[in-house]
Amino acid sequence: MTKIDKKSLLNALSKEYRKKHKKSEAIFEEASRVLVRGGSHNLRLFDPFPFYDVRSSGSRVTDADGNVYIDFWQGHFANILGHNPQVVLDALVDYFQKGQGLTTGFPGILQRELARIILRQIGAEKIRFTTSGTLATMYAVMLAMAYTKRSLVMKAGGGWHGAHPYLLKGVTTYRNGLNLTESAGLPDGASSVTVVTRFNDIADLEEKFKEYGEGLACFIVEPFIGAGGFIFGQKKYLQRARDLSRKYGTLLIFDEVISGFRFHPGGIQSLYGVQPDLTVLGKAIGGGMPVSAVAGKEEVMALCRPDAKAEEKVKFEGGTFSAHPASMLAGLTFLNYLIEHEKEIYPKIGKMGEKVRKGAEEIFGAHGFRVRCTGYPDAGIQYSSCVGIHFLRQNVDKIDSPEQAWNPDISDFELREKIFKLAMLQEGINVFHGFGAISAAHSEAEIQASLEAMEKIAKKWKKHRLPEA
Ligand SMILES: Cc1ncc(COP(=O)(O)O)c(C=O)c1O
Repeated sequence: MTKIDKKSLLNALSKEYRKKHKKSEAIFEEASRVLVRGGSHNLRLFDPFPFYDVRSSGSRVTDADGNVYIDFWQGHFANILGHNPQVVLDALVDYFQKGQGLTTGFPGILQRELARIILRQIGAEKIRFTTSGTLATMYAVMLAMAYTKRSLVMKAGGGWHGAHPYLLKGVTTYRNGLNLTESAGLPDGASSVTVVTRFNDIADLEEKFKEYGEGLACFIVEPFIGAGGFIFGQKKYLQRARDLSRKYGTLLIFDEVISGFRFHPGGIQSLYGVQPDLTVLGKAIGGGMPVSAVAGKEEVMALCRPDAKAEEKVKFEGGTFSAHPASMLAGLTFLNYLIEHEKEIYPKIGKMGEKVRKGAEEIFGAHGFRVRCTGYPDAGIQYSSCVGIHFLRQNVDKIDSPEQAWNPDISDFELREKIFKLAMLQEGINVFHGFGAISAAHSEAEIQASLEAMEKIAKKWKKHRLPEA
């Protein structure tokens, strides 16, 4: 790929960004006195500093300095209807006006409705709510360990399931593969509890089951891997995972925190016809509020019942704010809307996704840059609204594994996450992981504007081209 002078580009972009974000810079400095690096989630705190005090509506966000962005980050990809959809706001306002909606500590009725919708859409038997994807995957692993009375867990390299000790191995740090433990502060031996297999690699899966199968409590996998590069799990891979986990008495857990309700109103599991033992959901099921859940087979879920046998009982308590009334209302309003409008929403956002993926490859390609997109739907998936843009160093034709996405010799992470990010912001567009997730609030014109922004960027980058070695 054409080499560019990244240092000078980054300097110029950072300088320009600072000029346009004076208020945000001042907020950042103040915030950094009390908050760790000025915020509460590292992903949001990009260099040189994030923009603050966002007001958001539909496809757009406005920052403290009055800059307006078309946003493809959309609440960590949760906001399928865009920011602050009116239908959810109306339901919440009405609830609050009736003097209800804050936490009560009693089991509310709305959770029953949300539970019904989710169970019907994914075909599971029982569900319990909690408040974050992290907690839900942790509880799912605990249920699997208690049910199988085994102590090993297997995950796919590149899989991000949140930050808890069972699954912090093999996430995004590439060292001859994705197999490192990526956090300090874990209990002794945490690393040896977790086995990592390569995503979409049936041969590796078979080998790992052969080696560890008898000890594996669960295999947890994202049917559409998010942090691992926006890549769909192949149907045959997930089917093989189903067969092998059944054969070895291991529970199969699908983490559908990103994919749940993103590609159709349900999980990838129903599109593929592969039923896991447990499903983890989050993001979209809260309609903009913090809701997550574990759903699955009755006999597994029953282990968190208050009257479960003491030696099997899993302390899946969900937390003080589990099934929070306003969150339940937001979630069920949102999901009902998606279901009622599925025929308009999913084809529309899927078509826009395809336009961005193809357009980005063509535009950068025409200017000598080797760009490949991920998010292309696999067989069995009709509409994909997710787009990952990867700047490749090598002659790779397709990015189809998390190892390729995170191998710095293959994919230029700095160019994607730092330079392209700031360059797109300069054009009025907020992207994440190369691009992001399209919502029903985005318009054709905004998709066109995004492609035009890429055209401008590619032209500018050509001027920063380094002489060929
Ligand atoms: C697939 C997947 N699982 C779990 C999580 C963790 O969810 P949360 O950030 O709500 O804790 C995430 C978060 O991005 C995710 O993408």
